[in-house]
Amino acid sequence: MQEAESTRVVSGKPGPEDGSLDANLRPRRLGDFIGQQKVKDNLDIGIRAAQKRGEAIDHILLYGPPGLGKTTLAFIIAGEMGVNIKVSSGPAIERPGDLAAILTNLQKGDVLFIDEVHRLSRIVEEILYPAMEDFALDIILGKGPGARSLRLNLPRFTLIGATTRFASMSSPLRDRFGSVHRLDFYDAVSIGSIVKRSAQIFKLKIDDESIDLIACRARGTPRVANRLLKRIRDYAQVKADGAVNREVTIEAMGKLEVDELGLDEIDRKVLRTIIQKFDGGPVGLDTIAASISEEADTIEGVYEPYLLQLGFLERTPRGRQATRSAYKHLGIAYKKGPPQGSLW
Ligand SMILES: Nc1ncnc2c1ncn2[C@@H]1O[C@H](COP(=O)(O)OP(=O)(O)OP(=O)(O)O)[C@@H](O)[C@H]1O
Ligand SMILES: [Mg+2]
Repeated sequence: MQEAESTRVVSGKPGPEDGSLDANLRPRRLGDFIGQQKVKDNLDIGIRAAQKRGEAIDHILLYGPPGLGKTTLAFIIAGEMGVNIKVSSGPAIERPGDLAAILTNLQKGDVLFIDEVHRLSRIVEEILYPAMEDFALDIILGKGPGARSLRLNLPRFTLIGATTRFASMSSPLRDRFGSVHRLDFYDAVSIGSIVKRSAQIFKLKIDDESIDLIACRARGTPRVANRLLKRIRDYAQVKADGAVNREVTIEAMGKLEVDELGLDEIDRKVLRTIIQKFDGGPVGLDTIAASISEEADTIEGVYEPYLLQLGFLERTPRGRQATRSAYKHLGIAYKKGPPQGSLW
């Protein structure tokens, strides 16, 4: 059976309940954006320099796994620059005319945010290149030998692109961004601060121990942290007068089948499959996908990054391999070693 990715409580991707959650908890100023210090410092310099010159800031590309704050940062940048932000996404801009309409509606200094920018089609990208480089839109009038090209000037705007799949972007598009920032999973301290901030917004009573427990299980991802907090808040409301303590947190996480490192049933299934069915690997991604009835793409984009980050999985030229720590976490004896009789 296919597990709907958006219903997983530990998924970094936005789910149905996240719309209003994201809007309420999203920091609005760079100073409220927790963690990612290097990215913040670089953006801060870029913003201030552009403001001093009275110009639009250079085009910015933000990439990294889902739920780490790319959309949040795009809104913050527009807010700090004091300009409007227009939002669209790669799959929404189907035809060159769609992009032309968006571009001609921009005002001087505006931010155009294109989410999932790796999914723009080639013909749309072709329109974007001169727009990014020369702030110009080339329009072809007529067809065949009599066709003429007309160049329209656009206001200086800032394109902010976001993607979870940097490698799928065409290199001409990548090269046209003046600055490229990679967001990484957050450390537990930063996630703890995010949980604390969100609890304050929720006006929720929570002790430090519970904050730490959530921080360790949030997979280094603010969206997951906020979602876990919300579930625990609900649980506390029903079972414990609304206050969150260690007992409530552990019970609620148990109900959600999220273990002490933030792995859920599907993550454990991926690891168990590699270990038990394929002797720990190496085994190809497609084979794993077929064994657990998931899409290879989903495993690669959604489950694998965190398992790699934890050091539970290794990518080898011959496929995926479970590490000793993965065996340990699942409580399975590690039997692998050099082949019997080998001299090495
Ligand atoms: N540094 C941060 N400090 C506080 N909250 C954060 C931070 N980063 C993200 N968040 C919270 O996490 C939520 C998800 O962030 P956001 O939507 O920006 O992620 P994203 O990288 O755009 O994800 P996707 O790839 O799915 O589009 C936001 O609503 C915000 O509340
Ligand atoms: Mg986003």
